[in-house]
Amino acid sequence: MLENNSVGSGIIATVFGATGFLGRYVVQQLAKMGSQVLVPFRGSEDCHRHLKLMGDLGQIVPMKYNPRDESSIKAVMAKANVVINLIGRDHETRNYSFDEVHYHMAEKLAMISKEHGGIMRFIQVSCLGASPSSESKMLRAKAAAEEAILRELPEATILRPAVMVGTEDRILNRWAHFAKNYGFLPLIGDGSTKIQPVYVVDVAGALTTALRDDGSSMGKIYELGGPDIFTIHELAELMYDTIREWPRYVKVPFPIAKAIATPREVLLNKVPFPLPTPNMFNLDEINTLTKDTVVSGNALTFDDLGIVPHKLKGYPIEFLISYRKGGPQFGSTISEKVSPEDFP
Ligand SMILES: NC(=O)c1ccc[n+]([C@@H]2O[C@H](COP(=O)([O-])OP(=O)(O)OC[C@H]3O[C@@H](n4cnc5c(N)ncnc54)[C@H](OP(=O)(O)O)[C@@H]3O)[C@@H](O)[C@H]2O)c1
Repeated sequence: MLENNSVGSGIIATVFGATGFLGRYVVQQLAKMGSQVLVPFRGSEDCHRHLKLMGDLGQIVPMKYNPRDESSIKAVMAKANVVINLIGRDHETRNYSFDEVHYHMAEKLAMISKEHGGIMRFIQVSCLGASPSSESKMLRAKAAAEEAILRELPEATILRPAVMVGTEDRILNRWAHFAKNYGFLPLIGDGSTKIQPVYVVDVAGALTTALRDDGSSMGKIYELGGPDIFTIHELAELMYDTIREWPRYVKVPFPIAKAIATPREVLLNKVPFPLPTPNMFNLDEINTLTKDTVVSGNALTFDDLGIVPHKLKGYPIEFLISYRKGGPQFGSTISEKVSPEDFP
């Protein structure tokens, strides 16, 4: 059991990756439980501003660190009794490979936590589909990280969320933005790949539930998918339905999508300047889409944590109404489609 030596919950958590999409929901839920949250950040003061408002004075503590400097990692963990690793990136940059971000950093955090001696819980956020044999470099790196963490800390808890949906997501926002700007949506493959998107708040809820349990989630791996399985095409239809635009797709077969995405990967370390972040054509994501990614039959899931995940249709995707032409109140019902002729 965690000692009650902090604000309320007894938890003093260092949340690596707190400045990202999932991070804000995890910090919010930890703060609500009455935990102290240490927020390592590497960018400007702006990247953690929104988090400070989630707790009382002194409850959320931003700490500048350098992820490549072991002593600075030790400093941000020094007072913690819980370590949560949310560090990740869905594309490689000239500075950081998938292996460094997803695997070596996670391994380093586990090793330092072990050495620390006072870290009671270590929670790693991995990815649904993580496997050493995946087509995706990122998912292979995530699998290597899981193995390294469980080697160092067999009592660690690993969560593998499916693609996460929510106000700041990088799937529905990206699609809606593209569809609004270009009048169509590229459907990679033929749109029949199955995924199991999950509401980001449910993933944060699973994490804090695991943290508060009696230790029964220690040493376990949970696969966190939403209640419904969608094909990419079905999810795109839901997006179009919500933004009330007429669906228009261009099917992009895998070999063509890969051909569009490959030059960035080839040039990444060959040109003396940073390349743009991949948008719709991210080679690693395209490789992931060659296979269905859904929760496996024998996995531990939300159910084992006593959580009923939200259906996507409704509140979890309500943020999409900001993409509606004519404003969020345009039209009357969500299923009322409008034709292109309605817009002169
Ligand atoms: N988003 C999804 O749909 C999804 C689905 C399944 C699993 N996951 C996993 O869930 C975790 C959280 O995802 P997310 O969507 O919240 O990610 P995100 O928004 O991209 O945030 C990632 C976090 O990692 C940090 N980070 C990235 N590169 C780093 C580096 N080189 N050194 C140190 N910190 C670095 C970022 O810090 P900066 O702010 O400094 O960049 C940020 O705090 C990740 O491990 C991701 O792989 C995500």
